[in-house]
Amino acid sequence: MALREETEQETGAPPPGRRPTTRLGVGMVGYAFMGAAHSQGWRTAGHVFDLPADPVLAAICGRDRTAVEAAAARHGWAAAETDWRALIARDDVHLVDICTPGESHAEIAVAALEAGKHVLCEKPLANSVAEAEAMAAAAERAAARGQVAIVGFNYRKVPALTYARGLVADGRLGALRHIRATYLQDWLVDPEAPLTWRLKRERAGSGALGDLGAHIVDLAQYLAGEPLVGVSAVSETFVRERPLPAGPAGTADRTARGAVTVDDAALFTGRLASGALASFEASRMAAGRKNALRLEINGELGSLAFDLERLNELSFHDHTEPAVTAGFRRILVTEPGHPYLEAWWPPGHGLGYEHTFVHQARDVVRTIAEGLPPEPSFADGLQVQRVLAAVEESAARNSVHTPVPFQEVP
Ligand SMILES: NC(=O)c1ccc[n+]([C@@H]2O[C@H](COP(=O)([O-])OP(=O)(O)OC[C@H]3O[C@@H](n4cnc5c(N)ncnc54)[C@H](O)[C@@H]3O)[C@@H](O)[C@H]2O)c1
Repeated sequence: MALREETEQETGAPPPGRRPTTRLGVGMVGYAFMGAAHSQGWRTAGHVFDLPADPVLAAICGRDRTAVEAAAARHGWAAAETDWRALIARDDVHLVDICTPGESHAEIAVAALEAGKHVLCEKPLANSVAEAEAMAAAAERAAARGQVAIVGFNYRKVPALTYARGLVADGRLGALRHIRATYLQDWLVDPEAPLTWRLKRERAGSGALGDLGAHIVDLAQYLAGEPLVGVSAVSETFVRERPLPAGPAGTADRTARGAVTVDDAALFTGRLASGALASFEASRMAAGRKNALRLEINGELGSLAFDLERLNELSFHDHTEPAVTAGFRRILVTEPGHPYLEAWWPPGHGLGYEHTFVHQARDVVRTIAEGLPPEPSFADGLQVQRVLAAVEESAARNSVHTPVPFQEVP
């Protein structure tokens, strides 16, 4: 769908400091964790970057009228809806931003694309490969009509990781040999942590695997610029029953328990198309680790290392330098020449987690207004989903090596 033009002549980015006159009306479904993060992204992007269109927080959707109206007021949305179908049908909504649990991604995304809207959908793209395939097919049909569909793999938008992708693509690491990635949290260590939607297969698809593993699989494929072609996995559910969450009034019977139907942790090795070897660990059971996403890439000409807890930094070792002076150097990724940094603070003043959502909003707006290829696309999200399914299959079959079907890039 075209953006709403307020002047017919308006094309391209306005001069710095001038507000664009083309508006992109956003309608967001879900308003809790990711809803708050995306709201901040949409609110801020046009005030920091010179965008070719102005994102407008047109309407937000939840299921409870009082709660969604409170969320609209808190996060700055102009209107509230209680049915996502009504949100999609609104004339002032040009893009549907899906921030709900995985169970509803496919239905909402396909309906929005078929209604002519652009879509930004949180990760993992879906709860199954079949759903992700339907979404990728809908995105392809919609692309022919000029619509954009993007997955919310926001860690691609950490400047240090965007920059790392550039170094790999420029050949600074040479042929890749290894990727090792871990993403660790600890909020399930307590066996009394409640049985939320994230612990039910029918709602979340999988556990730590889809929640955290999806991010590091996407990052590995993005940074390497090539897909994983096979995996061998183990996974475990350490705590198999948990207390049911309290109801809205906090009145639930706290002795009632239910079954955990997803993994608490998944570990796997894999092979990239080029033959590089990769290892992954995703756990919500790593005591003391809050949001510890770490990765290292080794190539024949050098290595890169990244730690989300120090997200303004990238470690780079250039193996072509004389051994007596070579070594990992710490690059502070806050220079105006680094990705996204031209619009932020003076060097050294540092960005955080929330900036990834501002960068995501900026990229979505530019992709739509300037006709750029969507990135990460629904096809990228489908490829991640195929890896997650292969990991589950391997773990269920005594870690047998399981191929991942992938699309050759022409
Ligand atoms: N990119 C990231 O770093 C990141 C981080 C956390 C979660 N996520 C992803 O974001 C999505 C949402 O996760 P969250 O942490 O925000 O969950 P959450 O539980 O905090 O919020 C979910 C929201 O969806 C709403 N909702 C559920 N079903 C709905 C429906 N049918 N209609 C309207 N609203 C509905 C809930 O009321 C709630 O507002 C998931 O796909 C998750 O994997 C991504």
